[in-house]
Amino acid sequence: MNFEFTEEQLMIQQSARDYAQRELMKDVIHRDEHCEFPVQHIKNLAELGFMGMLVSPQYGGSGLDTISYVLAIEEISKIDASVGVIISVNNSLVCYELEEFGTEEQKQKYLVPLAKGEKLGAFLLSEPEAGSDATSQHTKAIENGDHYILNGTKNWITNGGSADTYIVIAQTHPEKGHKGINAFIVERKTKGVSVGIHENKMGMRSSDTHSVMFTDVIVPKENRLSDDGMGFKIAMKTLEGGRIGIASQALGIASGALDFATKYAKERKTFGTEIINHQAIAFKLADMATEIEAARFLCLKAAWLKDKHQPYGTASAMAKLYTAETAMKATTEAVQIHGGYGYVKEYHVERLMRDAKLTQIYEGTSEIQKIIISRALSGK
Ligand code: CAA
Repeated sequence: MNFEFTEEQLMIQQSARDYAQRELMKDVIHRDEHCEFPVQHIKNLAELGFMGMLVSPQYGGSGLDTISYVLAIEEISKIDASVGVIISVNNSLVCYELEEFGTEEQKQKYLVPLAKGEKLGAFLLSEPEAGSDATSQHTKAIENGDHYILNGTKNWITNGGSADTYIVIAQTHPEKGHKGINAFIVERKTKGVSVGIHENKMGMRSSDTHSVMFTDVIVPKENRLSDDGMGFKIAMKTLEGGRIGIASQALGIASGALDFATKYAKERKTFGTEIINHQAIAFKLADMATEIEAARFLCLKAAWLKDKHQPYGTASAMAKLYTAETAMKATTEAVQIHGGYGYVKEYHVERLMRDAKLTQIYEGTSEIQKIIISRALSGK
């Protein structure tokens, strides 16, 4: 077992840390307050290679390993978790799916601009009545000659209003259940696609979340991903990697909270000494640090398995479950350590606490992760 990072991994981590602390930090509170999508930051991060981190250079990506990906998403999410999820969705839900399951033509046309960050992607699985129960898709794509006609509504779509390229999961043969589901590449500018209102969320407020409606949208057959009926399995496989991204984001939120809380505890004095000298505070920080380190190892283990081409679905579910719970706990404690200051925006920790909550919900709730882990234990 080797606990050392390579020079390249450390360089990626440092580059993400530098950008986050130097650039994202400046206006993160403003973006959160005004639900402002970080357009320029995403352009800058694309130039640095962060929008196609895992994509091979052949398709315009940076060709990095998943360990580097974890390190980068953690550093970015320490400062701005909304930027973390925008990057994560583009990389692990959209680029991954295209590189893994797309044809050469689909890769050239759609993956290359997404990996270079010239375009942005979104993954459209959730619906008003199909969140955790993902096989209950109501969006329908009916075959009609050389194309499909797509109708339905998708909900809570990260990057929904800003993305150029959607991966849409839809039912093509309802009588076949999950075996009648397909995945399609749909351009947002296609006739019949409309974007609903921007959701006014509790946290992750500068990532844009929208519903997306499809009315008689014509999707050419060559835009279907993989073989007929493979859409649900593709989506599930994609989410295995997506959950490493969200776990890394939750890890960043938790470690950001620890950094802010430790700094504050060393400066703030009560009863004649810095509050870090009070055991009530020191023990909170010790628990946070220990749990965050355990969460980090779960993320890195899942990433390592993925890089070694070994099964990683259970490991990514464990990483997502544990880091999301750790992020919620660590941010709550960070607010408590800050006392009244923790409840106001300029100290950052209340935002991290609001952001942490979403990591327990999207890309599979904590309860869904427990289903995946327990099914693996029972051998299903
Ligand atoms: N890889 C490949 N295939 C898989 C798979 C995986 N990881 N998991 C399941 N499958 C296959 C199964 O083998 C099965 O196929 P067969 O019948 O041929 O054997 C088929 O898929 C159906 O599987 P299940 O019977 O296990 O399906 P289920 O209805 O019991 O659901 C579930 C399983 C794990 C609960 C799944 O529904 C799930 O993950 N739900 C949560 C969905 C989710 O994460 N949504 C998040 C939305 S995306 C998002 O949030 C993005 C964002 O914007 C940030």
